[in-house]
Amino acid sequence: MNPSEQTLAQRMRHTPYQAYSYSYPHKAAYRSLVQAAPLAPLWAQQDRSALFAYIHIPFCEMRCGFCNLFAMARPSAGMVERYVQQVLLQMRALNGALGERRFARFALGGGTPTYLSAAQLDALLCGARDILGIDLQQTPAGIEASPETITAERLAVCRAHGIDRVSLGIQSFAAGEMRALARPQQNATVHHAIGLIREAGFPTLNLDLIYGIAGQTVDSLLASIDSALAFKPEELYLYPLYVREQTGLGKVARRQGAATLNPIMLARDGDSRLALYAAARDHLRTRGYEQVSMRMFRAPHAPEQNGPSYCCQNDGMVGLGAGARSYTTGLHYSSQYAVERTQTIGIIEQYLTLDEAQFAQAEHGYVLDEAEQQRRYVIQSLLTEPGLDRDAYTARFGTYCEADLPQLAELHALELVEEDGRLLRLNQQGYAYADTIGPWLASDTVRALMAEGGQAC
Ligand SMILES: C[S@@+](CC[C@H](N)C(=O)[O-])C[C@H]1O[C@@H](n2cnc3c(N)ncnc32)[C@H](O)[C@@H]1O
Ligand code: SF4
Repeated sequence: MNPSEQTLAQRMRHTPYQAYSYSYPHKAAYRSLVQAAPLAPLWAQQDRSALFAYIHIPFCEMRCGFCNLFAMARPSAGMVERYVQQVLLQMRALNGALGERRFARFALGGGTPTYLSAAQLDALLCGARDILGIDLQQTPAGIEASPETITAERLAVCRAHGIDRVSLGIQSFAAGEMRALARPQQNATVHHAIGLIREAGFPTLNLDLIYGIAGQTVDSLLASIDSALAFKPEELYLYPLYVREQTGLGKVARRQGAATLNPIMLARDGDSRLALYAAARDHLRTRGYEQVSMRMFRAPHAPEQNGPSYCCQNDGMVGLGAGARSYTTGLHYSSQYAVERTQTIGIIEQYLTLDEAQFAQAEHGYVLDEAEQQRRYVIQSLLTEPGLDRDAYTARFGTYCEADLPQLAELHALELVEEDGRLLRLNQQGYAYADTIGPWLASDTVRALMAEGGQAC
């Protein structure tokens, strides 16, 4: 895309699928900090009454062709065990740095956390409880899993510790589509895994599906959704396929001489993602699923979110493990990030060498001034239900969001939002273009930093 094309209308002439803005700023905008920031004074200035603890497990039993997450396949047993011990060491360092605090959310993500053995999961969950002081029985707590790595023993450990949500990657139930994604997986394995999750009694099961796969049609996507709905999942995530440079699919496409990695061009039958999305969204909504964001749908039988409330706009994310991000109001930080295997291994190896003193400071990240904090607040609110609460924005910043970000007017002009009292929320068309609206709201500085690293925004 031409960088001078900055109006939303100009951006909307291209594919709606420009980038997934799940958090702002994107990690590709992080850089080495001029000076390492000690964590104790940083967190001392932060409201620590409702924090989110996230532990990243960058291991999987396979590397799927489409995946651009920070993860590596088939690590040695020794590396995995050392990694678990390092996360426990990092917890001890954070215990010293965080001071008095209360956690409102907990998640084990990846990669594939269920790649860990039951004993390793138990060690991490005991650490979360005893070192970080998280009351897992009273705190909403989730784990990401792949069907291949689910065992009754691992699930039992998680459930006993109070994990109440399992998110399972399926992607598709069609064998040809799984081949196109380069993800070896049998439906029998998926069925078995879901059976075990249900038997273990987790209140919330989330299933991930992907649309935009080569050869996928509206009928085959709806068939996959129906196969998923047969298990009555409390949540369903529908991900549009992105093909990124360093992934298996990206490398194959480049070898075959593709001029672009956009699945629009890669699929012989053209880009069907918007049509697939609309059909899937309508299918889920007529079956009672509520749309929470472009990707997330929640069933009417999903349990109410209990426990202390966590506000994603207000930050307070404590990330543990290689690649995990931490968010304070004025600084987001993490270890370095990679997709390609050699670089990923290098970053994990480096994580394994850190000592307690090094865990107590941040070296790599992004400093958010007031204007960036305002942008973040708007992006985090607008792209998900219930939308942007303008009064809450004013209470936080003492200013008006429409005055701080005049570009918001274009959302009205293009009829992508509706007003509901103090709320500004995306309408149906707005949600369809969430992956255009998010990147369009990024600042010039963030966009330039991401472009430097070859990341679109
Ligand atoms: C951490 S994984 C899920 C757990 C587990 N590792 C698995 O794959 O079953 C998160 C989800 O991100 C989605 N995802 C990852 N890379 C993607 C891409 N390039 N395009 C679309 N969706 C993607 C997949 O649906 C995947 O299930
Ligand atoms: S999709 Fe899941 S299992 Fe596959 S490589 Fe990515 S994180 Fe690992």
